[in-house]
Amino acid sequence: MPGLIVVGSQWGDEGKGKVVDVFSSQSDLVVRYQGGANAGHTLVVDGKKTVLHLIPSGILHEQVTCMIAAGVVLDIVTLCEEIRALKVNGLLKNPKQLLISDSCTVLLPYHRRLDLAREKALGNEKIGTTGRGIGPAYEERASRKAIVFGDLFGPKDVLKQKLEAALKEKNFLLESYYKEEPFKVEDLIKVIDECAEELKDYRSKDTSLGIHKALRSGKKVLFEGAQGSLLDLLHGTYPYVTSSSTLAGSALVGSGVGPSQNLDVVGITKAYTTRVGSGPFPTECTDEVGEELRKKGHEFGATTGRERRCGWLDLVALKYAIRVNGITSLALMKLDVLSGFDEIKVCTAYELDGQEITEYPVSPGELARCKPKYVTQKGWKEDLTQARSLKDLPRYAQDYVQFLSSSLATPIDVISIGPGRDQTLWIRPLFS
Ligand code: IMP
Repeated sequence: MPGLIVVGSQWGDEGKGKVVDVFSSQSDLVVRYQGGANAGHTLVVDGKKTVLHLIPSGILHEQVTCMIAAGVVLDIVTLCEEIRALKVNGLLKNPKQLLISDSCTVLLPYHRRLDLAREKALGNEKIGTTGRGIGPAYEERASRKAIVFGDLFGPKDVLKQKLEAALKEKNFLLESYYKEEPFKVEDLIKVIDECAEELKDYRSKDTSLGIHKALRSGKKVLFEGAQGSLLDLLHGTYPYVTSSSTLAGSALVGSGVGPSQNLDVVGITKAYTTRVGSGPFPTECTDEVGEELRKKGHEFGATTGRERRCGWLDLVALKYAIRVNGITSLALMKLDVLSGFDEIKVCTAYELDGQEITEYPVSPGELARCKPKYVTQKGWKEDLTQARSLKDLPRYAQDYVQFLSSSLATPIDVISIGPGRDQTLWIRPLFS
């Protein structure tokens, strides 16, 4: 299979960065197709830490081309910072390693201010966004007022006109409704010009064409999703979702590739569940179990540093994610974090208004009323981080993996047992 889509199958932070990093070394092209600087993964190269929000982690491999496709909301200030940080660390020496679509929506400082102002105004009703301006940027795209990446290199008067048109509404909202500082067109143009100068070498105009050619010639293309399936704008826990489609279908739309392509879909799944921000989470553990998962799993956001809410694995939600994404195999992450629990719970059904259900409910308010029904698996005490094959895992850990795979009727092709690249058990090769 020349193409592989990697999606998060929970509420994000499933460990996609590590999988994409490992998978990238076997890919020719890595494509980021939705979301923006709300995503984040930390890379450690030669002991130096770099946090990437927009650039695919494939950038660590010199032979890999990384693309940022049309579906992404591109925070150009953050992108310039990331590029500089990579260069300081001796990476991204060749500009051909990073190609940016002219059709990306440009995210500017006023989107962030609007996002933060809105959240502040919502008080207890807030979504718990990352504050990175994602919602306002996608709204602007839908309102047909957005600046796109190609505008940065076009006639200056056109850019100015577009910015003036966009700012008319935004400044009105900021000043009159939220009582926040407005933005000046001239200040923004200065920021944009500086960024355009730094980014011009990465302009690729039509990334869809590049992806199409790569797939046609049998090159290995990896589509890197951000956030998780349950944060999808249409199929997630609305309104507590992000503002893009996080599902595998979005890889096609966001990068301009048709559905007749033969692509595998790998769902990244943590061995337990986490969520950041507000919204329903049936298996959340607000007791010492949640605390232990958070501590052992270092469950703090890479973008905002917020504590992640933690709980047991939810197979009802996972089956839904498998269905709506068309997931063909799973990568099970952070299995090592479960070492030390006497017993491990797995949610296999919900109780909704006195009835047992096994299909994830999508009607408004229903998920919040669901109570999890668990089966209990035996835990294990052994440290898993040194295992190098499935056989090295203790029996109850193997049983847990087997139980998940058969309950979900989906193969688990990868198991991660620690942050290192070598702490990855390959059950079946990729791109096979
Ligand atoms: P936004 O994407 O910043 O608008 O935030 C909307 C919701 O998505 C909030 O609950 C965020 O916590 C969540 N979210 C956005 N990006 C991520 C991510 O990369 N990991 C986990 N949650 C995320």
